[in-house]
Amino acid sequence: MNPNKTLWEKGDFTRIAASMRESGEALVKSIEIRKGQKVLDLGSGDGTTALPAAKLGADVLGVDIARNLVAAGNQRAEKEGLANIRFQEGDATNLEELEDDSFDVSVSIFGAMFAPKPFDVAKEMTRVTRPGGRVIMGNWIPNDPTLVAQILKISSAYTPPPPEGFVSPMTWGIEGNVIERFSGAGVPAEKISFARDTFTFNYPGRPAALVDEFRKYYGPTMNAFEAAEKNGRAAELQEELEDLFNSQNKSPRKDATSIPATFLRVTVAV
Ligand SMILES: C[S@@+](CC[C@H](N)C(=O)[O-])C[C@H]1O[C@@H](n2cnc3c(N)ncnc32)[C@H](O)[C@@H]1O
Repeated sequence: MNPNKTLWEKGDFTRIAASMRESGEALVKSIEIRKGQKVLDLGSGDGTTALPAAKLGADVLGVDIARNLVAAGNQRAEKEGLANIRFQEGDATNLEELEDDSFDVSVSIFGAMFAPKPFDVAKEMTRVTRPGGRVIMGNWIPNDPTLVAQILKISSAYTPPPPEGFVSPMTWGIEGNVIERFSGAGVPAEKISFARDTFTFNYPGRPAALVDEFRKYYGPTMNAFEAAEKNGRAAELQEELEDLFNSQNKSPRKDATSIPATFLRVTVAV
């Protein structure tokens, strides 16, 4: 059993991804992907960034560890009639099925950050990207006051401590760690650049209803609630998350949710 795979096959991340589509599309537009380019989307989920890249004419491969999300991605591509994209199962820590220098652009938006062994992830992303190509990552930032960092922070207070040696995914949001990991893959620091960017979660319901979506369908939050229930603290966790979502909601409408979240955008010139 691979706990990394189990976590993401739990629930149904497509329910959360549905609130991320507009920002996914905007992010891909800003990357300036050109027609005919070969693009890898690593930790692609059901294609929030992979589908927009294919719509721009790129030849896209989505790779994800979760079998259900790979299936959902292929279904979305088929529904949209896109022949230049496919999704397959794979692990960001070992992309042995992909050849060296296969891609012009390797993208991983809140994807590869969740894989264990970050040095292996940096090595693999660099290896499969051709010299002169780019690696682009979107990583949540530890202790950031905005939504996702806070969800993960609140949730961690209700879950048992991780096993010894566990490297927090949030460390991908620290510039020094990113430099160290890509340096380990042979990329000098001057080829790595950083920017703060924003991803907005848009949901056609109240913030409390979006909390419910996370509680029912988002693996890390599901685990936090399971642990909290065992300790009789589920109501407390629900309240903390509702307070967070309500306080961050920027929608002028009472029956809608729009929450911006800050992330670290990493660009590596390979
Ligand atoms: C927060 S979701 C983001 C999905 C997508 N990039 C998006 O923006 O909607 C994290 C994704 O990373 C995938 N993932 C986690 N660990 C992985 C690994 N070791 N290899 C490949 N994918 C992984 C999960 O299955 C999940 O689809």
